[in-house]
Amino acid sequence: MKLEPVKVVHVYYKPMREKIFVGRLAFKDRKIFFEYDTRFIEIGLNLSPFKLPLKSGVIASNDFTFDGLFGVFNDSLPDGWGRLLLDRALIKHNINPGSLSVLDRLCFVGSNGMGALIYEPEAEQTQAIQHDSLDEIAEEIAEFQEHDNDKYVEDLLNLGGSSAGARPKILMNLEGEHWLIKFPSSTDPKDIGAIEYAYHLMAKDAGLDVPKAKLFPARKGFGFFGSRRFDKTDNSKVHMHTTSGLLHADHRMPSLDYETIMKATMHLTRNMKECEKQYRGCVFNVISHNRDDHSKNFSFLMDSNGVWCISPSYDLTFSSGPSAEHCSMIMGEGKNPGISQLLELAKISNIKKSEALKIIDEVISSVSKWSTFAKDAGISHASVKLIDSTIAKIIKESRKICY
Ligand SMILES: Nc1ncnc2c1ncn2[C@@H]1O[C@H](COP(=O)(O)OP(=O)(O)O)[C@@H](O)[C@H]1O
Ligand SMILES: [Mg+2]
Repeated sequence: MKLEPVKVVHVYYKPMREKIFVGRLAFKDRKIFFEYDTRFIEIGLNLSPFKLPLKSGVIASNDFTFDGLFGVFNDSLPDGWGRLLLDRALIKHNINPGSLSVLDRLCFVGSNGMGALIYEPEAEQTQAIQHDSLDEIAEEIAEFQEHDNDKYVEDLLNLGGSSAGARPKILMNLEGEHWLIKFPSSTDPKDIGAIEYAYHLMAKDAGLDVPKAKLFPARKGFGFFGSRRFDKTDNSKVHMHTTSGLLHADHRMPSLDYETIMKATMHLTRNMKECEKQYRGCVFNVISHNRDDHSKNFSFLMDSNGVWCISPSYDLTFSSGPSAEHCSMIMGEGKNPGISQLLELAKISNIKKSEALKIIDEVISSVSKWSTFAKDAGISHASVKLIDSTIAKIIKESRKICY
């Protein structure tokens, strides 16, 4: 593994086989600059309309939310798990991770990032090992996390180094489909994968658009949650932008509220159906107590004609959020949001009250069937009980107002 510091990075958009030059990123005098290529401006694909709109000339970044990087490129950088792996691999090779600029980090992403952007010059990639099972990978993760053993760090980097999010994960091609598979971190409950699978089943039943997902069996324990990637097929990639990158909203702190998420959805998609889908997701998060609803857990996809929609919902699970509140407040309420906040949110989003009540009703009816989904996913008795009592309380409060 080598570090060759760069001052200029070339960005390409590669939705299909052909790559299209987007522009140049440069680092000078501790500042980051970007310039769109004239031909890309002519094509007219607005990859990041709010914070890096298409325009000619050099654009200097004056926002240090992401170490001065523009949000659309920051979305390509791994944060929690992927960043940790790269840093540990660098240390193993006597390279100080602190000496890397964000541009150097983009070179390590190269052509393996999520979404359709690629970065050159691409840093040398680590070697892949052939694995017989997910259990083998889980053991490598456990060695790394629990025993501080960096023997497998290059392999883990190869498997999941360009993924985002805190939890260990890998990106894998399974019979021609591209999957993202998550593993428990050392502090997670052992049945976290099964819980996420139960939430997936529940969200699907509640009418949310969710990717194809599976609970992959584990030799020991409850299984690994995986979902089919919605940004990649064998011969195409889709441009993906998180709300964090789109609005320069740091996901490590409560930096968003649902009012902003709904407004961003309307501005970007200009499609009421997309707003209703986003709204349904919000209702689901409130009713099912999914409070890890930070800015990186909402994304948008842009097709090759420049049309935006919201991505399928992901990272849906039982979670308590910072100080037991939602990361994103619902009309000013983070601790105990209920139907009145949800109806207020519908109102400012121009969703009719009758439609909002219908969505709320459908979500409540699916979340009420929690124990059935929990049984299908085979989660532990303790988790079933805890989640059951928490959501039962939310539903009871909601029904007082709904009916
Ligand atoms: N099915 C999927 N297809 C494409 N990208 C995904 C998919 N699921 C998650 N992602 C992306 O991967 C990131 C990490 O996944 P997530 O489930 O949020 O993991 P974590 O629990 O570690 O936060 C998300 O922020 C999202 O950008
Ligand atoms: Mg996440």
